Amino acid sequence: MFEDLKAIFNKKNTQVPQPHIPEKFYSSPEKSKAKTVIISIVNQKGGCGKTTTSINLSSCLAKKGFKVLMIDLDAQAHASFGIGINVDNLIYSVYDILVSNLESERVIIPTYIKNLDIIPAVSLLTGAQLKIADLSEREGLLRTAIYRTLKTQIKSYDYIIIDCSPSLNLLTINGLVAAQSVLVPIQTHYFSLEGMKELFSTIELVRERLNSQLEILGILPTLFDSRAKMNKDILQQIKDYFKDKVFSTVIRRTIKLAEASLNKKSIFEYAPKSHGAEDYLALTEDVILLTRPDSINAQ
Ligand SMILES: Nc1ncnc2c1ncn2[C@@H]1O[C@H](COP(=O)(O)OP(=O)(O)OP(=O)(O)O)[C@@H](O)[C@H]1O
Ligand SMILES: [Mg+2]
Repeated sequence: MFEDLKAIFNKKNTQVPQPHIPEKFYSSPEKSKAKTVIISIVNQKGGCGKTTTSINLSSCLAKKGFKVLMIDLDAQAHASFGIGINVDNLIYSVYDILVSNLESERVIIPTYIKNLDIIPAVSLLTGAQLKIADLSEREGLLRTAIYRTLKTQIKSYDYIIIDCSPSLNLLTINGLVAAQSVLVPIQTHYFSLEGMKELFSTIELVRERLNSQLEILGILPTLFDSRAKMNKDILQQIKDYFKDKVFSTVIRRTIKLAEASLNKKSIFEYAPKSHGAEDYLALTEDVILLTRPDSINAQ
C-alpha cells in the first residue's frame, strides 16, 4: 500500500506533487520568532483523532502558559462540546465570521481552562459553504479575520489551533489558507492510499496558489494499540514512508481520551495520570520544540 503511495509521490511530472516538507522548517529562527503560530489539524478521514488532538494540544499549550485560541471549523462542533461550550446558547460562532464578516473578537469566548479561548462552531456551519461560494475571497475569509484580530491587538495569542472537518471542503481550505502549518493525525489501524494522495495534493495546491508559507508540521500516529499486530505494521509503514516527519510521539488508544471528551474535559483534568495525558504532553513538547524552540528552556 505505502509502496503505491511512494510511487505516486515520486513519479516525475505527475499531477500529484511530492509532499512539500522543507527541512528548514525545523530550525528556522525566523519561524520560531513568529508572533502567533497557527496550526491546522487536518485529515479528511473521519474519526482519526483530529478533535481529540485539537482539544488536548490546545489545553496542554495553555497549561504551559501559552495564550491559545482554538478554532472549531467543523459543523459537528465536537471541539466546542468537548471543551465545555454549550453551543445551543451561543449568540455568535465561526459561521458569523465567515458569512457575515463579523470581527472575531466578538465571537471569541474563554473556556474553563486559563489561557485557552475558543471560536466555537454550530451546526449552521454546514450552510456556510454555499453562502460564501460566490465570494472572490472565499478561501481566505478565516485568514483575513484572524489577521485583522491579531492586528488590532485586542487579543493576542501564541498559538492558534484549527480543528478541521472530515472533508477537504471550502471550510477546510479556509483552515489551510489561514495556517502556517498542518498537523496530520493518521490512525494506525487503517490506511487509505487514495485518502493520503488527495490530502497531500490539496495541501500542495493550497501552498502553490493561496498560501505559500504552508508547511507540514508533522504526521501524528493515533489510536495505537500495541497489542494489535496490524497497528504495529501500519505504524512501521507510516515511519518508513514519512520518516522523520512522523512525530516521535505516538498517541495510544485509551478509553480515557474518549471519556474525557464526553465529560467536556481535557485529558489533563479528566485523567492526568493516564497514557492519554502522557502522550498529549509529549506531543505538546514536540510541537513547542518545532515551533518555538527558544521557549522550551523557559518552561
Ligand atoms: N487515542 C484515542 N483512544 C481512544 N479513543 C480515541 C482516541 N482518540 C480519539 N478517540 C475517540 O475516537 C473518536 C474519534 O476521535 P475524534 O473525534 O478526535 O476524531 P476526528 O478525526 O476529529 O473525527 P471527525 O473526522 O468526525 O471530526 C472519538 O469518540 C474520540 O473520543
Ligand atoms: Mg473532529
